Amino acid sequence: MPNTSRIAIIGAGNVGATAAYALMLHGTVAEIVLIDRSAEHAAAEATDVADANAISQPVRIWAGDYSDVRDAAILVITAGATPKDGEPRTSVAGRSAEIVRDCVRRAMDAGFDGVFVVASNPADAMTQVAQAESGLPAARVIGTGTLLDSNRFRKRIADRLGIAPGAVAAQVLGEHGDSEVMAYSTVRIGGMDLDAYLDGRQFDRAEVAHEVMRAGYTIGHGKGFTSYGVASAIARICEAVYRDERVVLPVSTLLSGQYGIDGIYLSLPCLIGAEGILRVLTPELTRDEISALLASADVLRRTLEQTNGEL
Ligand code: 2OP
Repeated sequence: MPNTSRIAIIGAGNVGATAAYALMLHGTVAEIVLIDRSAEHAAAEATDVADANAISQPVRIWAGDYSDVRDAAILVITAGATPKDGEPRTSVAGRSAEIVRDCVRRAMDAGFDGVFVVASNPADAMTQVAQAESGLPAARVIGTGTLLDSNRFRKRIADRLGIAPGAVAAQVLGEHGDSEVMAYSTVRIGGMDLDAYLDGRQFDRAEVAHEVMRAGYTIGHGKGFTSYGVASAIARICEAVYRDERVVLPVSTLLSGQYGIDGIYLSLPCLIGAEGILRVLTPELTRDEISALLASADVLRRTLEQTNGEL
């Protein structure tokens, strides 16, 4: 594991560039390198972010190439195909897999030996593709998974309760996609579960679950893509790894028998530190939540079949 203060981001599109901006604002690392098939675009994004340095954080950011990843502690992959408006993330599994495999192959050939953070969609399958191609331990290949969905879940619960999103603990588990599981049994506000906190007030669980699951589609329909939410999730995971925080976040990891699921990447609460995933947590879930998680795993198995390659 390289002991450097550098994060490399492959893909300088809306997500990658916004992730670079978020990391710069937080002052997480000293160096950020943007790598893109369009060097001109990467250079423009790097220059644009760097123009905030003087009044923000003195992060050195530049458009580079794979020779820059050898000394990166973390390599973020955002490159991949984008689903058409209204199409599921799984619709681009084959095309994204080819792109992700190529990125990982080039990074490993260049001597990368840090932690991967994969955000390319469909996120869970692409993380599994990246891990297989890299040959690294699964602990060091993390998918953004449902960290974004959990943040959306917390926000929409909080809005209905009239409290701050940070006051709501809540986990979305499983696929970052249509089969994701709103684990209402994990919701806590000051240690109280949702029903106790509601104290008889109305709360439409199905409506909130639908809003969260559809959020990526809704935002994508309105602006053509999503960026700030997923880029913030990328930055949060990078900080947890880079600072060896040992924080628990719902991210995509390779299951090894949890809830009877083996050999599939999907999101569960994970303890995250400098070495990546330190532990996969298995909260007590309801029978319905476990059934939904198993169904999500089946969706991901079928998605992996579309990735046209040996895993
Ligand atoms: C999102 O949910 C598109 O997966 C991306 O924002």
